[in-house]
Amino acid sequence: MKAAGLAGVIAGDTVISTVGKEGLDLNYRGYSIRDLAAHSTFEEVAYLLIYGKLPNVEELKAYTAKLVSLRSLPDGLKVTLEQLPANAHPMDVLRTGVSALGCLETENSFEEARDHADRLVASLGSMLVYWYHFANSGKRIEVESSESSVAGHFLDLLHGEAPSEDHRRCMDVSLILYAEHEFNASTFTSRVVTSTLSDYHSAIAAGIGALRGPLHGGANEKAMELIERFTDADEAEKELRDMLERKEKIMGFGHRVYRDSDPRSDIIKEWSLKLSQNSDKAFLYPVSERIEKVMWDEKHIFPNLDFYSASAYHYCGIPTAMFTPLFVISRVTGWTAHIIEERGVGKLIRPTADYTGPSPQAYPSIETRS
Ligand code: COA
Repeated sequence: MKAAGLAGVIAGDTVISTVGKEGLDLNYRGYSIRDLAAHSTFEEVAYLLIYGKLPNVEELKAYTAKLVSLRSLPDGLKVTLEQLPANAHPMDVLRTGVSALGCLETENSFEEARDHADRLVASLGSMLVYWYHFANSGKRIEVESSESSVAGHFLDLLHGEAPSEDHRRCMDVSLILYAEHEFNASTFTSRVVTSTLSDYHSAIAAGIGALRGPLHGGANEKAMELIERFTDADEAEKELRDMLERKEKIMGFGHRVYRDSDPRSDIIKEWSLKLSQNSDKAFLYPVSERIEKVMWDEKHIFPNLDFYSASAYHYCGIPTAMFTPLFVISRVTGWTAHIIEERGVGKLIRPTADYTGPSPQAYPSIETRS
């Protein structure tokens, strides 16, 4: 079977999540995304994905303490981060940070994968914010904080103060929603790298590279760039209609697998609405809603998780260029589950292509070439 973009191709089995299957909600290891977003913390979801089960009280306590203990950055990594310019994209910073950590704390055996995953879940936020403050103000921040959650830790380091409960929980829910999504492009990339028996950090760095593009994780940044161009809904509608007329793609809309809606979108949309109510940029929410309406009326295309994540993150005071890196902090858990699963499969991923190039031809000497 041949399909552009491998659309509709079943490329393997997985026990980790199910996306867009008839009659089934998006779920992680059998648990509905709606239940996880309503009742879990990101730490519980990370444990579920990496260790295969929801933690009990004792396991969660120990896991949270383990993550808190893994936040520091080795000196060699700090030196590397300090070399990266302020205008570097934070996704490039994270990709570099993961590579550097892979040199300093190399995976010596596949048995270590879960420990390396916990290290990244705990320290990716530290890397990102350490670089951000150093590059922009020359300040070397402490990467420890009194916040016990990954979400709270990130916001505390970024803003230099404890976040509000709403911002902390919005971030926590967002990390849950972004954690896992079956054979998407970045996860599949990580699985391809893994299938060559390569190491954990290479598979994660490759996943970050795939996630960076605007057709995948980078869409949340592009969605923000779109909505912040407008101050009211009518203005947004007019420009959106013009964009559609010009056949431009609207980032944060559409999906390869879902047909009518992305079940994650309504959950983050609620957070966007809630946070808009205490913001001086409240108008971004009605602007977003109008864009959603025009997209549905005109194209029957719905918002994916990235669209309302943009305004929700903005309301949490997060710089736009950090939106996709936040996706990394979350998705590293899903990538890890897939890396471990792919190692169990143990088969090199290597498809073939139909050749459509020139017919066999005589080799020309260099003097006769045009
Ligand atoms: N804005 C405008 N039109 C869109 C669109 C969007 N966001 N998404 C899809 N379409 C249209 C395409 O123009 C195409 O129309 P056509 O058949 O008239 O040419 C049709 O819908 C099919 O789109 P296509 O890009 O071929 O579908 P796909 O399955 O390959 O792509 C995405 C899926 C996600 C890449 C695509 O919807 C997209 O580019 N979305 C924007 C980026 C984004 O938000 N990515 C995050 C995904 S979670």
